[in-house]
Amino acid sequence: MSSNAESTSQRYTRSIAAHERRSRVIAGGVNSNVRLMSRPVPLTFTRAHGAMIWDIDGNEYIDYAAGMGPTILGHNHPRVLAAVQQALQSGQCFAGQHELEAEFAERLIGAVPWIENIRIGLAGSDMDLLAVRIAKAVTGRSKVLRFTGHYHGWIDPLLVGPGAAPTPFGTPPVGPGQSVAAASEIVMCEWNDVSLVEQVFATHQIACVIMEPIMCNTGVIAAQPGYIEAVKALCKQHGAVLVIDEVITGFRVGLQGAQGHLGITGDITLYAKAIASGYPMAAIGTSRELMAGVGRGEVNHSGTYNSGYLSVAAAVETMKILVEENPYPSLQKNTVRLVEGLRKVGNSKGLAVDYVAGSLFQVRFGAQEPMQNREHFAKNSDQPKLLKFLDALQDRGVRPTSRGLFFVSVAHDDRLIDRTLEIAESALASL
Ligand SMILES: Cc1ncc(COP(=O)(O)O)c(C=O)c1O
Repeated sequence: MSSNAESTSQRYTRSIAAHERRSRVIAGGVNSNVRLMSRPVPLTFTRAHGAMIWDIDGNEYIDYAAGMGPTILGHNHPRVLAAVQQALQSGQCFAGQHELEAEFAERLIGAVPWIENIRIGLAGSDMDLLAVRIAKAVTGRSKVLRFTGHYHGWIDPLLVGPGAAPTPFGTPPVGPGQSVAAASEIVMCEWNDVSLVEQVFATHQIACVIMEPIMCNTGVIAAQPGYIEAVKALCKQHGAVLVIDEVITGFRVGLQGAQGHLGITGDITLYAKAIASGYPMAAIGTSRELMAGVGRGEVNHSGTYNSGYLSVAAAVETMKILVEENPYPSLQKNTVRLVEGLRKVGNSKGLAVDYVAGSLFQVRFGAQEPMQNREHFAKNSDQPKLLKFLDALQDRGVRPTSRGLFFVSVAHDDRLIDRTLEIAESALASL
């Protein structure tokens, strides 16, 4: 074993032991497949506060994984914590309604005025499922157009096999155990090519088009100017529903998400992550008309844990803070400082930083130009080098997501950003 490998395994001794223990009783030692990607093993954490997180070996990290996006206010924001502590006194699961539901809905609709009606669910995947179900119900059609490199949860009506290429005229590949029948209702297009979407509409009866308005699940890739507008026009022309999946971008890119930033609106919007500071909650927002079938009980949306009291209390408080304190200008300023600092220390080493808006960005090794789609990204992302860089960052106390996405929170202050830049420089020098 090299001395480097030795010092790495020493640094993570307890995490390695904890992973071995878990792996005997929990498949892969994790409870979400995404976490399998963590190195040297999926780490075990003991606590998180503000912008920091600590693992079981006592290692401290500046946390840019941010719960995979939710902790926009930092971990355990004191106001959210107080709201949840107060809610704890009242119970959690009522199999019935409570007053915080309307308060959350009114606040969301107040912030995002093109939404008239919502439903609350547990996770982004639930809301993606409901969006597709509503679109199929109102159009009477079965096909869904989605884009390569975007992600809409782990559910069969939207999940395709890893690396699935655009197949506008065939069924996309699926992973073991996934429904081929469900996949036959998915039509794939490469992102940022209107002519492909036109071809699909000319040849299929499409119920809905679903997209991340800024592609955040394969790099961070902007839509070309006019692209979303053109897709929206095609949806309108052909009577299809446009679903904007703002599970990552909602309340993170700004109070009105990517749609507010881009000046576009879809027919259905999906929220999760940043709406509830890490407590399990998601929401779907749309018109009263599109939601009518759900309200009448014809289009099924159910769930024992939907709108749990603690989660909605966390979401109401998160929403209040985001509206009252408007952290977005300073979040963006800090994010841009970090992006520009990384470019300064990293460009000569081949590091590219993809930033579009708000408080998230992607690092990769490849061409500096903005990426256009999944294929372009794949050709311009040296994965082995990225993994070495991410390992070196982690060993030095900086933790982005395991694919190089950084989420900045209000707790990432100037001092932590400066420290991150010093660590990044040292990590790059070690490659
Ligand atoms: C854009 C997008 N949609 C949907 C989902 C699924 O959300 P969840 O993991 O809460 O089910 C994710 C998860 O990362 C996502 O990034």
